[in-house]
Amino acid sequence: MKGHSKEATPGKQESLRKIAGKLGGIISNQKWMRPIFVDAMAGDGVASQGFMSSPQILQGIANRFGFDFRAIEKDEERFKSLVDVVGEDSALHGMCQDSLKLIDLESYRGGLIYFDPNGSEINAELDAMVDQASRLDCGDILINVTATGLKRTNLYRTAQLRHGFNKRFWYVRRPIGKWQWVMMLGTSTDKIDPIPAIGFVQAWTDEGKDILAKCDHTNRELQELQSISETPDFPAFC
Ligand SMILES: C[S@@+](CC[C@H](N)C(=O)[O-])C[C@H]1O[C@@H](n2cnc3c(N)ncnc32)[C@H](O)[C@@H]1O
Repeated sequence: MKGHSKEATPGKQESLRKIAGKLGGIISNQKWMRPIFVDAMAGDGVASQGFMSSPQILQGIANRFGFDFRAIEKDEERFKSLVDVVGEDSALHGMCQDSLKLIDLESYRGGLIYFDPNGSEINAELDAMVDQASRLDCGDILINVTATGLKRTNLYRTAQLRHGFNKRFWYVRRPIGKWQWVMMLGTSTDKIDPIPAIGFVQAWTDEGKDILAKCDHTNRELQELQSISETPDFPAFC
């Protein structure tokens, strides 16, 4: 799919399966919840390179735990294919900023909204959508974005995660592939164990901060920051 490097696909789908599976397990223990999983930028739903698509993965986990599931796709041809994969009742055609409103998310408690844009779709519009979704009580948000895209647009930098989106805890998955795709999970729980096999850690651990620094800065900026921190302290004035 345009804007996504093929090399990153297996890693992306393995991460999604592990992260969403873990979250599903935690949510399903909270019996008072009424959860929903939403794939907000679902694509055509077709498996690629022997790996399930994101709507297949998320629908499978939702079905296993008895959660509701919806998949949204704006492109008409991809939507037709998506319907064949997830079924008519679970598929919504249109822009996710509009379709999310049709789901009545306020009536749910717990769940996950997944945003997986192409590299070229990382822009202020996406930022506004994720921000809107982060304010819903219905669940957590998972974003798959390129670190190179983040540096270009200034979005999702560390300050935005800390002070912007309305989620208390953040987890990050180490960058993969040429375009340095990272996953960021905004959640209201800190009870999610790290997943070392995929480099998924809490954002404010040393490893998490290191990942965020790579998202915030170019290699040259990181080298400059490193050389500043290596400069010996100036002698104190007497
Ligand atoms: C990278 S692909 C999704 C791939 C899919 N998550 C997977 O891993 O199988 C991104 C998709 O988002 C769709 N898209 C982009 N902006 C959208 C929007 N605002 N609302 C709904 N779909 C959107 C694109 O048409 C494209 O099919």
